[in-house]
Amino acid sequence: MAEFKYDVKDLKLASEGLRRIEWSQKEMPVLNKIHERFIKNKPLTGMKIGACLHVTTETAYLAKILKDGGADIAMCASNPLSTQDDVAAAMVSEYEIPTFSIRGEDNDTYYDHLSKVCDFEPNMTMDDGADMVAMIHQERNELIDNILGGSEETTTGIIRLRSLASQNKLKYPVIDVNDADTKHLFDNRYGTGQSTLDGITRATNILWAGKTVVVAGYGWCGKGIAKRASGMGSHVIVTEVDSVKALEAVMDGYRVMKMADAAKVGEVFITVTGGMNAIGREVIKNLKSGAIIANSGHFNVEIDIDALEDESDSSKDILNFVKQYTLYDGRQIFLLGEGRLINLTAAEGHPSGVMDLSFAGQALAAEYIKNNNMNLNNAVHSLPVEIDKEIALLKLQGMDVGIDILTEEQEKYLSSWDIGT
Ligand code: ADE
Repeated sequence: MAEFKYDVKDLKLASEGLRRIEWSQKEMPVLNKIHERFIKNKPLTGMKIGACLHVTTETAYLAKILKDGGADIAMCASNPLSTQDDVAAAMVSEYEIPTFSIRGEDNDTYYDHLSKVCDFEPNMTMDDGADMVAMIHQERNELIDNILGGSEETTTGIIRLRSLASQNKLKYPVIDVNDADTKHLFDNRYGTGQSTLDGITRATNILWAGKTVVVAGYGWCGKGIAKRASGMGSHVIVTEVDSVKALEAVMDGYRVMKMADAAKVGEVFITVTGGMNAIGREVIKNLKSGAIIANSGHFNVEIDIDALEDESDSSKDILNFVKQYTLYDGRQIFLLGEGRLINLTAAEGHPSGVMDLSFAGQALAAEYIKNNNMNLNNAVHSLPVEIDKEIALLKLQGMDVGIDILTEEQEKYLSSWDIGT
């Protein structure tokens, strides 16, 4: 029996969790290297990290690395439906990490778990969606003086933090891990691209070939999803509010149209806008019968579920992650995973091979905060580019890929202005 507080579903699941965590490590050469160094040098000694992340095999490995690097760590989930219960159990009984997360927890339990991590009095926060920072700023101000900094890994969290900072209300420095090239270019694009289709496939087993798939939002996540769906033979339509992104989608070869028009022809809808009500009441009124709607954005606000319920005569769960809504005119709409991020609800989230990069960013951000917090003001800061490059290089080495080095002559040319035609 662990001698610290925790709240997980069932400790008996721990051995299965450990097996899966160890399997995922095989795909994470960058974290493996960081782990070796952290075990040796203990660079995080003195850090108390309060982490609010999706509790998956990759997250468990990150937590172990931080702990082996000298930090104390407590963990809660960053989404009520993304926890892998066997992993949470292994974190408690195998790694002795206070963990508070149960798959399917209700909203009150979700926030109670966040506050349990606050009770641990962290001097650093590590977020995926900024819920920990938000709770500390809204309800747990007494912790702020002790906090050296935080790190945040997702676009939605960064938008929230920038909004806080723009009102001069951010009370400690936060490192924007999402902004690192080795994060958003890979996790958002290849991770969300693959895991979103994986989640929808596991939930429905649909054939993608020949389907008309509407992707709402053409940021890095939307780009990844559109490319993967297209590769599976789907006809992809993109909807956007940003003119540059819409133009990119057009030139990447997709049809771009207003959501109101896409509503009438789409068969599968995937939202990754980061905003709210991308599929709102008017869209719902125009969907074809049989339309499947899913969200892969961070929060469950991209599909207006209240409107869907309002417009429906009845609804029932027909498969594990599929709810059938029958509208008053008889049309049937299928909502996946309660509108929560489908890649973590119905599948296992991003593959380890890509979390390797994102979590290398998180681990090195923790070390950076420990060493540099005294020079950082209360703002959102980029992860230094040298760290980004180091992560990419380690990944290339792990993949056995070599790259060239500039000669002195080439370096000189690139830094000169006077050599022209
Ligand atoms: N976000 C998306 N996929 C994830 C994963 N596998 N682990 C943790 N966070 C994630």
